[in-house]
Amino acid sequence: MQRDAAKPKKSEKNINVEKRENPMSLSLDVSAKIYPVNRYLELYSRSLEEPEKFWEEQARELDWFKSWDKVLEWNTPFAKWFVGGRINACYNALDRHLKSWRKNKAALIWEGEPGERRVLTYHDLYREANRFADALLRLGVKTGDRVGIYMPLIPELPISMLAASRIGATFTVVFSGFSSGALADRLNDAEAKVLITADGGYRRGRIVNLKENADKALASCPTVEHVVVYRRTGHSVPFKEGRDIWWDDIVKDSRKYVEPVSVESNHPLYILYTSGTTGKPKGVVHSTGGYLVYVSATQKWVFDVRDEDVYWCTADIGWVTGHSYVVYGPFLNGVTTVMYEGALDYPNPGRWWEIVERYGVTILYTTPTALRTLIKYGDEYPKKYDLSSLRLLGTVGEPINPAAWEWYFNVVGGGRCPIVDTWWQTETGGILISPAPRLGLVPLKPGSATYPLPTIMADVYDEKGRPAPSMTRGYLVIKNPWPGMLQTLFKDPQRYQQVYWSRFEGVYYTGDYAMKDEEGYFWLLGRADEVLKVAGHRLGTIELEDALVSHQAVAEAAVVGRPDAVKGEVIVVFATLRQGYSPSPQLAQELREHVRRVIGPIATPEEIHFVHMLPKTRSGKIMRRVIKAVASQAEIGDITTLEDEASVEEVKKAIETLRAGMA
Ligand code: WTA
Repeated sequence: MQRDAAKPKKSEKNINVEKRENPMSLSLDVSAKIYPVNRYLELYSRSLEEPEKFWEEQARELDWFKSWDKVLEWNTPFAKWFVGGRINACYNALDRHLKSWRKNKAALIWEGEPGERRVLTYHDLYREANRFADALLRLGVKTGDRVGIYMPLIPELPISMLAASRIGATFTVVFSGFSSGALADRLNDAEAKVLITADGGYRRGRIVNLKENADKALASCPTVEHVVVYRRTGHSVPFKEGRDIWWDDIVKDSRKYVEPVSVESNHPLYILYTSGTTGKPKGVVHSTGGYLVYVSATQKWVFDVRDEDVYWCTADIGWVTGHSYVVYGPFLNGVTTVMYEGALDYPNPGRWWEIVERYGVTILYTTPTALRTLIKYGDEYPKKYDLSSLRLLGTVGEPINPAAWEWYFNVVGGGRCPIVDTWWQTETGGILISPAPRLGLVPLKPGSATYPLPTIMADVYDEKGRPAPSMTRGYLVIKNPWPGMLQTLFKDPQRYQQVYWSRFEGVYYTGDYAMKDEEGYFWLLGRADEVLKVAGHRLGTIELEDALVSHQAVAEAAVVGRPDAVKGEVIVVFATLRQGYSPSPQLAQELREHVRRVIGPIATPEEIHFVHMLPKTRSGKIMRRVIKAVASQAEIGDITTLEDEASVEEVKKAIETLRAGMA
């Protein structure tokens, strides 16, 4: 993705943000009023001296049933953290707070899209998680079994995750915006024994038929023995005797207390599927001990959570941000968290700001796409509400452009609140590069995630694996293990090794472009591989192409991302048709519907172009960079560098064919 400006200037002090035209060159002294500036780098260098000792101290903040024998066992690229330690995730998120004054503190403030409100204290969550844990036990779920979760954003979603982890079951949450095909793939790969879902959820005033999708998926999921259905919408849904059971019916006979299972630190807490560079989503496996230590610490450092805070991370729990910074990070720290079920502009674009005002939200964490959507509606909406409770803002998921940054800072934050631009991935478990106000906030530069968090050795490499000079784009790598890192890909350690640890010898390859400026600040510059970020959602081009060719009319498809002012990137399809089919707007619409059915609404193509042939190299590889340049209507420029294996003539012809298809 193109940045609004490529090169940040050197930082300058004492600049009034409102007066700057180009905020890229801005260094915020606003933060200095609230947080000690520049103490951070000193702490960071100290952390690199003895990283294991550093993490050991962090680990002591959690409750362990038995302490670890060894902090880190590192057999590149397989890490085991806190080896021999025994712990339980649910116990640390809930039981621990019951021994303190936080017992009746609000853990979760929930608002449904239609407007219902529920407040659950730590004690409430504890009661619910225990009862549901017992329900899972009675359904035959054992330590180590996998439990699938496909739910709207309602309290029963975190309750399900906590209950599963209480009995040592590994959960896998499937985003409720995915449709039956994507759900079936994930449940089958994980070999889930039980699925937890709901009749439906609300989105823009309409019901999303989750149970219906689940039923379709389950037709091809032989491992799933039982389905627990939470009644959210109350609309009538089909029920399969013997397999399906209502949540309320099963918990009514539950015991009030279930002993939390003490698992070894490296027991898998969850699997989360994410798109990569093949058609098959990767099952990212996260540990229990290391993961919890990492999210607990980073929640504190980055969001500076305090007891009086009302923290709102707007992410859906179906994505990693929700796992780490809606559920485990906040609950481990005894924080009050806000959760909102529905669309950000329903019933009007003031909904989010109304929520901030109603609950007095102090920390807001969201995506650049959401901000750009809200910017479009104009300043009048945020200005209608009292947002003065906010003190810290955060972003995640995509690079933030200076215009969105500035709007967030000025209009939402009233010029008072530092913005933490947090860089991380499903695989990293938690934030790796970000300002860390709790540890000492460094001067901010809009669009930069600043510096790595303690002990994280991030760098930018060139093609050959040498450190890239500053101000030069290269590949972001991480050179040492950290407690939140993925353990492996489920049932596929070889792929784990190949995807992340073979691009450059012995270092973790992120798949992201980045550069460092003269002061060592990191600037994230988008994906370097076949992964798209559409409205912050991670999608693989090959996955999308597979979905397209599963339609009878499509012979071949190439999917690329085109930069978009709101969504960051949108999906553009070039397709060739099988004999007997001819291009038409109806067919394009049918293909759009088809992709929505197979993957989900988030994967809806923005443009579909029918072409006679796709540009390929002599060896048959699709020339993506040509296609991408055409789709983005970018200057094609020097085409000799576009694809090494293709002749200039071939590339020229390819461009003409594609342009004809777009006409
Ligand atoms: C991108 C989301 C720029 C990046 C937590 C990464 C970002 C991918 C940022 C992971 C950021 C995440 N600035 N880009 N602050 N944060 N990304 O797995 O391309 O859904 O590789 O995890 O999002 O997406 P994922």
